[in-house]
Amino acid sequence: MSKSYRPRYHVSVPFGWANDPNGTIYYKGKAHLFYQYYPHKPEWGPMHWNHVTTKDFVHWEQRPVALCPDRPYEVVCGCCSGSTVEKDGRLYLMYTAAQPTMQRQCLAVSDDGDHFEKCPENPVLTAEILSPEIYEEDFRDPRIFRHGDAFYLLAGIRWLDGGRRTEPAPANQRETTDPRQPAPEHKKEGWGNLCLLKSVDLFHWDYVGHLLYPQPEFSEDFYRLDGVYECPDYFVADTGEEVLLSSPQNLPRSKNLYQNIHSGLYMLGHLDFDTGRFRVDAIGEVDSGFDFYAAQTLRMPDGRVIMIAWKEMWDRSFPSREEEWAGTYTLPRELTVADGRLIQKPVREIEACRRDPVRVGAAAVEDGEIDLPGVVGNVIELKFTLAPGSADKAGVKLFCDGAHETLLYYDRKEGLLVFDRQSAGAAITGREEDVNRRVCDLGPRDSIEFDLFLDVSSLEAFIDGGRHAMTGNVYPDPEKATGIRFFAEGGAAAFTGVEKYAIE
Ligand code: FRU
Repeated sequence: MSKSYRPRYHVSVPFGWANDPNGTIYYKGKAHLFYQYYPHKPEWGPMHWNHVTTKDFVHWEQRPVALCPDRPYEVVCGCCSGSTVEKDGRLYLMYTAAQPTMQRQCLAVSDDGDHFEKCPENPVLTAEILSPEIYEEDFRDPRIFRHGDAFYLLAGIRWLDGGRRTEPAPANQRETTDPRQPAPEHKKEGWGNLCLLKSVDLFHWDYVGHLLYPQPEFSEDFYRLDGVYECPDYFVADTGEEVLLSSPQNLPRSKNLYQNIHSGLYMLGHLDFDTGRFRVDAIGEVDSGFDFYAAQTLRMPDGRVIMIAWKEMWDRSFPSREEEWAGTYTLPRELTVADGRLIQKPVREIEACRRDPVRVGAAAVEDGEIDLPGVVGNVIELKFTLAPGSADKAGVKLFCDGAHETLLYYDRKEGLLVFDRQSAGAAITGREEDVNRRVCDLGPRDSIEFDLFLDVSSLEAFIDGGRHAMTGNVYPDPEKATGIRFFAEGGAAAFTGVEKYAIE
């Protein structure tokens, strides 16, 4: 086993930096994933679009880099996030050409899904179309989709809400290489929102409206966001529910929700294609863990909606940088809606990668910890059902190497599932108060189902058949951290149906 933090069955950037997934689509017999990419260093820099494809969501093939920043209006920040759509058999890609004070949308087209030509009409869309409602510095991440016989586009904006920025930023404050870090003195105005535009040909667009408006049953925080709803996405679930995904920056923490500085959000409701308004019926956090952002979906020919997210978080340290790379992605997840919430399950193709099954009937633990025969590994799937019984805390210690451990346990008194990476391995720093503990509100429970995916430096936890997910990276010794302990504190707990598979 090589001594590297690189995950084995998750997509990761080969060298350099990667962030948002972009342009996810099924096209010409393959699923395509593009992503934000800086090939020269493991740091954010002028963005390229890297490109990988798969036929089974497990094995990914590197394709030629799809976009490089080579136009005068995109050289500083590059080709930022966007999406793809098929039209007349060709694959169109729309991205945000970003400069520090101006974000515009551009098109590129491909006949083979591999080689892209930027369109001579670029930029095809500037913030003027929305003026005076929005702010030209924040107009990004176009997500195109078809509805009826037209194309629609969602993008993240700052909506001025009747207000207006009085003066442009002083010239000496305009030069920054990171659109996420505006010049210090320069106060951004307006509130985060999303806009809807319509087109018949992808080149000419009409503004329909902005999506979010105050709704008394939901916090003002969603409407008065001091940031942008980045990387939106929209789909209709197989059961007919409409789902709006987005990644709001700086969404304030609300009890046990939105513990990261930037969040992954879903809203269920209804998009009015005439006004652009999205009536919200329910809001939820997609993943309650540490590392999840900028999720995008694609629809498979069999109807499944598959989501992939950046399995990292802004404003954090990246221990893998010592290996000259930074950037991983979640497992592709199948999305459905049930009981008014988003359900996410690991893509079913992953089952074909299970090897060497180990099955253990039932194990009871009273105030202590045990290991179970053969239940070891750090490139594995681990399933079990926990009955917390009388224990105050019960769960698993993963990635144990003698010195380190990652905890995932149910705190019965609080009704919380806790993911604790305090002692997991190489330290992670971040801007938030606590960068090592995340919780997921399960409430009082007699039994909890776990489906865990461990991959060297990565843990994805699917709880209760995908009703909850918690994802995070940990950096223990990649060779030695294979130990797994089942524990209970303050009473007795039972673990049943324990199954472990190597994933290959
Ligand atoms: C989200 C984001 C996008 C932007 C891209 C730049 O993570 O900030 O809004 O297009 O990253 O790489």
